[in-house]
Amino acid sequence: MYLQNLHLRQFRNYQDQKVEFTAAKTILVGNNAQGKSNLLEAVELLATLRSHRMARDRDLVREGEDIAQIHATLERQTGISDLALTLRRNGRRSVAINGESVRRQMDFLGVLNAVQFSSLDLDLVRGGPEGRRNWLDTLLIQLEPVYAHILQQYNHVLRQRNAFLKKNQDSARAKRPATALSAAMPAGLYSTQHSELAVWDAQLVTTGTRVIRRRDRAIQRLAPIAAAWHASISGSTEVLQINYLPSVPLEKSHPDEIQQAFLAKIQQRTSAELYRGTTLVGPHRDEVELTINQTPARQYGSQGQQRTLVLALKLAELQLIEEVVNEPPLLLLDDVLAELDPSRQNQLLDAIQDRFQTLITTTHLSSFDAQWLNSSQILFVEAGKILL
Ligand SMILES: Nc1ncnc2c1ncn2[C@@H]1O[C@H](COP(=O)(O)OP(=O)(O)OP(=O)(O)O)[C@@H](O)[C@H]1O
Ligand SMILES: [Mg+2]
Repeated sequence: MYLQNLHLRQFRNYQDQKVEFTAAKTILVGNNAQGKSNLLEAVELLATLRSHRMARDRDLVREGEDIAQIHATLERQTGISDLALTLRRNGRRSVAINGESVRRQMDFLGVLNAVQFSSLDLDLVRGGPEGRRNWLDTLLIQLEPVYAHILQQYNHVLRQRNAFLKKNQDSARAKRPATALSAAMPAGLYSTQHSELAVWDAQLVTTGTRVIRRRDRAIQRLAPIAAAWHASISGSTEVLQINYLPSVPLEKSHPDEIQQAFLAKIQQRTSAELYRGTTLVGPHRDEVELTINQTPARQYGSQGQQRTLVLALKLAELQLIEEVVNEPPLLLLDDVLAELDPSRQNQLLDAIQDRFQTLITTTHLSSFDAQWLNSSQILFVEAGKILL
C-alpha cells in the first residue's frame, strides 16, 4: 500500500500542511520539537486510531483550536481511498472514507496499515506488562479490526464490574474480616448484589475470552517470525521466545472451556476482589513474556541486545501484517535508525528495501548512507511546517 499524500489541519503544531509522498522512503529532517514525530503520529492515528504516545485528543488538537483534521489518500491494490479523521478537544471523533462518514470505527481500521517503531518501543522490553498488552492490542486491531470492538466491549464490562466492586467494597469489608478472604463464597453481599455480580461475571467471562483467544492466536503466529528475525540479526547465538501468559489458564483451547476456567478463577478471587474493590482476573492482567536464551529479556542483555529484540519484533509485525492483509504495510521509523549500529541498520534497510513505504525522522542526515539518501525523498520540518 502506498500513502500518496497527507493533509494536516490544526493537528499538534501543524496549522495547515499538505505533504505529497514521492518516493518509497521519505526522510523528515529537523531539529528537536519541530513536528517530525507529530507527522508520524498522524499516520499512526489513521492506521490504528491510537497514538503510542498515549495522548488524549485534546493534546492532539492544536493549542487554541477545537478541531483537528487528518486527511490522506491511500493507494492499495483494490483502489484508492480517501481517509479522514476529525479529532475534537472534547474527545468526540469522526471518521470518513471517500467522503462518506463511517459510523463504526472498526470499518475505518484496516484500510491503512502501519508499523510504528520509536525509541519508546524499548519499553516493550524494559517496561511493565501494560505496554506489552497495548502493543499486542494495537497489532491485533490491524490484523483483525473487529478486535477493536471486542476490546472495547471487554473494557466496558470491566469498568462496570469495577464500579460494582468499588461500590460494595466497604460493606464487604465491614461484614467480613480480612482474615477469611480465601473462602469461596463472598460474604457481605445481599442476594440481590450477589445476582448483580453474577451478571457482571458472566459478561466479563464472555467478552474476556474473546480477547484472550485472539491474543493467543496472534502471539502464536508472531512468535516464530520474531524468533527467526532475531536469530538472523543476532547471528543465531540467541534464542528469542515470546510467550503469552494470560491471567486465566489457557490449557484448554475450546472457548467454552476457557470460559469455565475463567469463571472458576474469578469465583475463587471474588472475596479478594470485593476487599480490594477491583477486578483481579482477566485479560487486563495478561502478560506477554519475552525471553532470550530462557532468561527474561529485561535482565538478559545490554541495551544493544534489547534493541535487537525490539527490531526483531517490529520486523515480525511488518511481515505478519503483510501476510494477513496481503499488502506491505507502511513503516514509521521515529528516530531509531541512528540508534542502531551499522550492521543492524543494514539488516533493517535490507528487510525494508523498497517494498515497504517508510517514513523516517531524524535530526541529522549524516547518519545515513549516501546511496540511501539519493533514493529517498527528503523533507525539512521546522516549527510545524514542511519546507520543500
Ligand atoms: N496540541 C498542540 N498544539 C501546539 N503545539 C503542539 C501540540 N502538541 C505538541 N505540540 C508541539 O509540537 C512540538 C513537538 O513536536 P514533535 O514531537 O513532532 O517534535 P520532533 O520534531 O519529533 O522533535 P524530536 O527531534 O525532539 O523528537 C513541540 O514543540 C510541542 O510543543
Ligand atoms: Mg520526535
